Amino acid sequence: MSDRSPLVRGMRDLYAEELASIRIVESVFRDTLESYGYELIRLPTMERTALFSRGIGESTDAVSKEMFTLDDETESLSLRPEGTASCVRAVIDANLYRGNQPKLWYVGSMFRHERPQLGRYREFFQVGAEAFGFNGPDVDTELIRIVQDVWERLDVTNEITLEINSLGNTASRLRHRDALVDYFEGCRDDLDEDSQRRLEINPLRILDSKNERTQEIVERAPNMSDYLDDESRRHFDEFQERLARLGIHATVNHRLVRGLDYYTHGVFEWNTARLGAQKQVGGGGRYDGLCELLGGAPCPAAGFAIGVDRVALLRKEIGLKTPASTPDVYVLALSDEEEEYALQVASQLRETSSFGVRVHQGGGKAKARMRAADRSGASIALIIGAQEAADNQVSIKWLRINREQVTVPVTDLPTTLLTSN
Ligand code: HAM
Repeated sequence: MSDRSPLVRGMRDLYAEELASIRIVESVFRDTLESYGYELIRLPTMERTALFSRGIGESTDAVSKEMFTLDDETESLSLRPEGTASCVRAVIDANLYRGNQPKLWYVGSMFRHERPQLGRYREFFQVGAEAFGFNGPDVDTELIRIVQDVWERLDVTNEITLEINSLGNTASRLRHRDALVDYFEGCRDDLDEDSQRRLEINPLRILDSKNERTQEIVERAPNMSDYLDDESRRHFDEFQERLARLGIHATVNHRLVRGLDYYTHGVFEWNTARLGAQKQVGGGGRYDGLCELLGGAPCPAAGFAIGVDRVALLRKEIGLKTPASTPDVYVLALSDEEEEYALQVASQLRETSSFGVRVHQGGGKAKARMRAADRSGASIALIIGAQEAADNQVSIKWLRINREQVTVPVTDLPTTLLTSN
């Protein structure tokens, strides 16, 4: 009989290499986004359910099937399935976009009640960026450029392809919507149940259906590209020209509609062939109507979000290793008498270098202390015996390379370690 409480399905404990590779992806995004002048925003993980159903769309999978919702007596709250709706709410709440054009980025957990498998979790991590107040497509291409820079820094450029499409402005979308309703009404009985429901709420969502029979019908559905008005067409043409000028290769996919309702004009998705069914590593686009829809003043906006877990998995898949973060240096006194001196050595080294320094604790015989140093994963052991303590010295033992142990004055330690690494 066990009292252990198992991990909740779709949730993960992250540590060692897996966490290290997630942190690498996040830190490259952070550095790159900040180098483009994007500012970090921290958003809550829980919002009113209405924010998501209104902002993301009642008929999307993310809202209608995948939300973790908690109803208390007064209101319905949900864990965020994505960051854009919250970011827009925050911008409206604090009036950040009045007389300003904020460029914001965020990182954190998102929650979707999906069937878990490799690369698909119920709690997963996204890095996202949102730019407010620009009509584009200059900022749209900047967003893509940022992600392209990140792919390069993470060595995954050759594994990722970019698809784009235009969903047009409101007028174009309405005309396309009418055409879709006409078309799907003609074969309503052949559609799956979900799609029949979506026909009433948002027929565009039917294009996203995973049902095989519906997919066949979708094949012949009217294409958005035939309904773009001049303004929408110009926007999309310029978007493509700008991407081409940056040397960014993008394939136009007229069937790309994204899974969330707020998009207008240019939308994009990054895919990889390395992760089976979870091929989408990121997506985004323009959402000019969302600020107003959520009760703010009209404000054009565009952004993206990347699935950090999937990018980390992709790097692993192509053999890019990220060692877990272990201490660089393990300081061990050979007996309890030298412990005080060992603590001083460790403090001094932390102050004068950026090494991660761990001190042996828990006592034990000299041999056991050495074994602990090895197990810690550190690359260097600083050994302190009675002689070293008496002479203000330390002995350096390299644990992972074949190199002779040396004894140096403690003042020479940082330089010796730096030049030897
Ligand atoms: P999204 O396409 O729904 O867009 O999600 C972005 C990325 O999150 C996906 O491409 C995927 O890599 C990752 N992702 C989604 N669900 C899961 C899951 N269950 N497990 C692991 N990874 C997952 C958005 O969320 C929009 N907010 C993007 C955006 C920002 N558009 C404009 N601004």
